[in-house]
Amino acid sequence: MRFLHLFCLILFFTILTVHSQPIPVGEEALGTRSYDQYEKPAVCQSCHTDIYQQWTQVMMSQAYMHHWDEIEYFDLAVEHSKKDPFFKAASDGCNGCHTPMAFLAGDVPPPRPVENSRANESVNCDICHTVTGFHGDEPFNFNYISEPGKTKYGAKPGLVSPHHVTKELDFIRQTEYCGTCHNEKNPFDIWVKSTQFEWKEGPYAKEDVTCHVCHMPKAPDRSALMAKEDMVAQHLFHGAHDPGKVASAIEIRMHPVQREVEIDEMVVLKVQLFNAKTGHKFPTGSVEDRIAWLHVTATDSEGKTYHLSVDKKGFEGEEYTIGADALAYTDMGIPLGIDNFKGVQRDGIPVGDRIFRMPYFDENGVMTIMQWNTRSLGVDYRIGPRETKIETYTFELPLDIAPGKVTFKAQLNYQKLVKPVADFLKVPEDESEIMIVNTATTWVEIYE
Ligand code: HEC
Ligand code: HEC
Ligand code: HEC
Ligand code: HEC
Ligand code: HEC
Repeated sequence: MRFLHLFCLILFFTILTVHSQPIPVGEEALGTRSYDQYEKPAVCQSCHTDIYQQWTQVMMSQAYMHHWDEIEYFDLAVEHSKKDPFFKAASDGCNGCHTPMAFLAGDVPPPRPVENSRANESVNCDICHTVTGFHGDEPFNFNYISEPGKTKYGAKPGLVSPHHVTKELDFIRQTEYCGTCHNEKNPFDIWVKSTQFEWKEGPYAKEDVTCHVCHMPKAPDRSALMAKEDMVAQHLFHGAHDPGKVASAIEIRMHPVQREVEIDEMVVLKVQLFNAKTGHKFPTGSVEDRIAWLHVTATDSEGKTYHLSVDKKGFEGEEYTIGADALAYTDMGIPLGIDNFKGVQRDGIPVGDRIFRMPYFDENGVMTIMQWNTRSLGVDYRIGPRETKIETYTFELPLDIAPGKVTFKAQLNYQKLVKPVADFLKVPEDESEIMIVNTATTWVEIYE
């Protein structure tokens, strides 16, 4: 009898410890699951027809297959880890966010996208709807808890489905849910992605305007063929690859300090840039790749056009925020096997234009787009949520300028990947196309 008691006690504690053993997350989760544990999006499609079609247009459904992702992962990250095993965990880890199933199944590197394996499902329905929380103090580096199975988690209580058990989960409504993939720390403890942290420090967090409000807006709709009409979260997830989302993210206005100017004087212009639309900094996310820059021109009464350079403010690191004829990105030579690689043009935009960016530096203090190889971050000259920046331009009137009305145009451009890098790595044009965020105009009268 006593033995039985003891046996039961031991059994009880064994079960308890097995159960309280946390589900591995982040790097520890590599190879702890199999593909079969997750259902294919095609299964969800049969009832969630509309949401499925929305998702197929989302960057997250292509996070593994997209051309630039494939190039950076296979040509730079994987090659780098072959030359220096220190980077193996970081290169395997790309998949923890870009194709979570492949990572959890231990299928790293996964087959190339042309091989059409399940890795191509990228961030799919079942990954997102079987996450139950995250481990740790902060959400980052795919530290989501994945519990695949019959139960699908959503934001609404009491829904019934013929295919799955449906459970309401508070976590799915929170920004930390997105943060598990939208914050990233590299092997040198540098925060190379901080979108959710940026949000948390900004005004939208205080007002509880979550990521979902702007990236999954709700509208009267039916979330499944057999569902009743309700306010349904649209799976748009539109961001930097949607020209409409980027358009007008920043509003710009411009005025001269003096409207009437004599021909031997100078014109001083002020440009205000107001971040009216993003819930985080602009640019955010893959900050190592992205730039926004302000291009200002003057056109005199005879139609001759001049380019204006921004006035320097004098802060530390400012040289990285003004278009220059400089080389950078030499560390790409390591994975590509090019000795003494001279690098490519740093900016690829007109010299003198103001750039809104945060530079990432390698161990030699040279700018890098290889976020995993980043040792330090430079000046953060991006535009925060609801922040307004003012730039000034001093235009010394050229001797031959025509008197009369001079018009000024300011244009804020945006590029997902700096063009010289895109061209060098043969990344298709759409990744480095110029997107116009906004424009402004003003004028002065020039007297002889
Ligand atoms: C046979 C049809 C069917 C299939 C297949 C199906 N669902 Fe559903 N699902 C439903 C119905 C019906 C609802 C309830 C909708 C309502 O009443 O608004 C639902 C609700 C949901 C919800 C909302 C839960 C909530 O509480 O907000 C999620 C999330 C969900 N499904 C995910 C999935 C995923 C992921 C798949 C594929 C792995 C899937 N579903 C496959 C029919 C289906
Ligand atoms: C499992 C990881 C994961 C989770 C969770 C996740 N994302 Fe993403 N998200 C990604 C990856 C990876 C990309 C990059 C896609 C690519 O390669 O371009 C991305 C891209 C995006 C984009 C950029 C689209 C573009 O056009 O550039 C938006 C917007 C976005 N996610 C919003 C969200 C929001 C909002 C949430 C939370 C509701 C969320 N994500 C949760 C991994 C995730
Ligand atoms: C990046 C993560 C992510 C992906 C990928 C994703 N969802 Fe969702 N889904 C969410 C979040 C977050 C919500 C809750 C949004 C809210 O209510 O604010 C949601 C809500 C839903 C709902 C309930 C909608 C409503 O408001 O009634 C259904 C159904 C659903 N998703 C099905 C799917 C299906 C099917 C797919 C794949 C085709 C999919 N989801 C892909 C994150 C995701
Ligand atoms: C107030 C609205 C708003 C909120 C809140 C918001 N965003 Fe955005 N987001 C935008 C707009 C507008 C853009 C397009 C401009 C840009 O690329 O920054 C964008 C762009 C993005 C991009 C693409 C950036 C790139 O360079 O590829 C990602 C990723 C993203 N958001 C994720 C998130 C996440 C995660 C949250 C929550 C932590 C969030 N957003 C909260 C409005 C918002
Ligand atoms: C913690 C999650 C996470 C990890 C780890 C991660 N990424 Fe990403 N990656 C993202 C998210 C989220 C975005 C989208 C941010 C944005 O829209 O700017 C992104 C964007 C990108 C982009 C830009 C896509 C585009 O279309 O502009 C590339 C390329 C990329 N990642 C490659 C990699 C590589 C290579 C690695 C590994 C060395 C890696 N990522 C590791 C989450 C991650």
